[in-house]
Amino acid sequence: MEEKIIELEKRSRELEPGLKDREVLQQKANSYSNHFIDQLPDEPAYKAYEKESVNKLLNDPITEDGADTDDVLSIFSEQVVPPGLNLSSGRHFGYIPGGGLSTSAVGDYLAAITNRYAGVYSSSPGAVALETRMINWLKNLFGYPDSSGGYLSSGGSHANLTAIVAARDSKKLKGADYSRAVIYITEQTHHCVDRALNIAGMSECVRQKIPMDNSFRMRTSFLAQAIQKDKEDGLMPWLIVASAGSTDAGVVDPLDEIGPIARKYNLWFHVDAAYGGFFMLTQKGAGTLKGISESDSLVVDPHKGMFLPYGIGALLVKDPKILSWAHRFEASYMNDTKVDSGIYSPAEISPELSKHFRAVRMWLPLKLHGVAPFRAALEEKLLLTGMLWKKLSDTEQIVTGPKPQLSVVMFRWEPFEDSSANDEINKKLHKLFLEDGRVFLSVTTINGRFYFRAAILSARTHLADIHLLLKVLSEKMDSLREG
Ligand SMILES: Cc1ncc(COP(=O)(O)O)c(C=O)c1O
Repeated sequence: MEEKIIELEKRSRELEPGLKDREVLQQKANSYSNHFIDQLPDEPAYKAYEKESVNKLLNDPITEDGADTDDVLSIFSEQVVPPGLNLSSGRHFGYIPGGGLSTSAVGDYLAAITNRYAGVYSSSPGAVALETRMINWLKNLFGYPDSSGGYLSSGGSHANLTAIVAARDSKKLKGADYSRAVIYITEQTHHCVDRALNIAGMSECVRQKIPMDNSFRMRTSFLAQAIQKDKEDGLMPWLIVASAGSTDAGVVDPLDEIGPIARKYNLWFHVDAAYGGFFMLTQKGAGTLKGISESDSLVVDPHKGMFLPYGIGALLVKDPKILSWAHRFEASYMNDTKVDSGIYSPAEISPELSKHFRAVRMWLPLKLHGVAPFRAALEEKLLLTGMLWKKLSDTEQIVTGPKPQLSVVMFRWEPFEDSSANDEINKKLHKLFLEDGRVFLSVTTINGRFYFRAAILSARTHLADIHLLLKVLSEKMDSLREG
């Protein structure tokens, strides 16, 4: 028996390579990472792909005896990374860009190596304190009181789901109420809110879409009227979700008008600031987001406005007792973890138990760089956006969307009188952008019309990238004109 154990130990010890082997792997991964970052300015923002070729990965063999390091890294660098959107590129203007700060990646590495149990204070008090420190920094940024709380999630969808659950429980809604419960949103509300309602078992609840003004912002006079009428009709208004940076148009609902309405009618006021929240660091953004501190809960995504790699969102809630009620649990094997630490453990106020030691990927860049470069980068993005919008607005036959409040520019080419002919030529233009790949724009439909969106939020997007966007646009329009 001992012989067998020793034999197994020998094999299992392969999982813990010695210093020399670790250094070789780390050096190879590091050298690939540095090459990847240094090459970004020359790499396309989008690489077209054949799904047959990408899906060969599904047959990638997983063997009993492992594979050679160089072979494995080449699968990653040649087959996994290149196809599709280069989300680390500064010329990625699609959807809502993130960034992928390398200092944050090092934070992830340290988090994984030390593998602290970030869900529970008694196990890893330092890890929980670090997450709480990040939450407190966010609370301070958004004008939330000391008594408020929150947690770091995997992203905005997860945090919005938790907010919906908190709002539901705070209003003591039960299954029998759901078909009369009304949530107030707009056409611009991110789809994850609707999805969160479904996941929370509230798919029957009434979605009241409040009309928007010409800039796609919620018209608050209609909001107040709708709530009043719904109450008179015997419905149960319970939640207003405002967008602080809508995904499509990048606009912010009038938060300072919505807060008083929510209070007057005793509704939960949630702000989805997943995209726009960090503009709070800038003077202009803080003005645009005025009223955000009056919300009951808010979501903000460090993997958007702080340029961190994907996998980190945050939820702040004014009354964290609601979160602890929503996530209450009893388990005898957890009794020894109940210590009086003076701070909430993430596992007490959010769905995860074992969780990624997420705070390090946010804390390390904040500590190393300080806040000023983040503020400067966000201010730079606002100015680049204003410049791009102005240049496009001044371009003949280009029709722009509303003057950007934050960092999204909507535009379309209108060489024809006929709207559907314009849609068609913009679709062809989009195809040319994808084939070219130097810059990536995503597209959307607003009021039935096809629009391009340029969302400027990568830390790596600078003046030259905006010039390139304009150059590619002009080249592609010329080539379509020439037929
Ligand atoms: C306004 C808004 N809310 C929520 C989300 C969802 O966030 P995530 O993709 O991090 O789940 C997004 C994503 O782009 C968003 O823009």
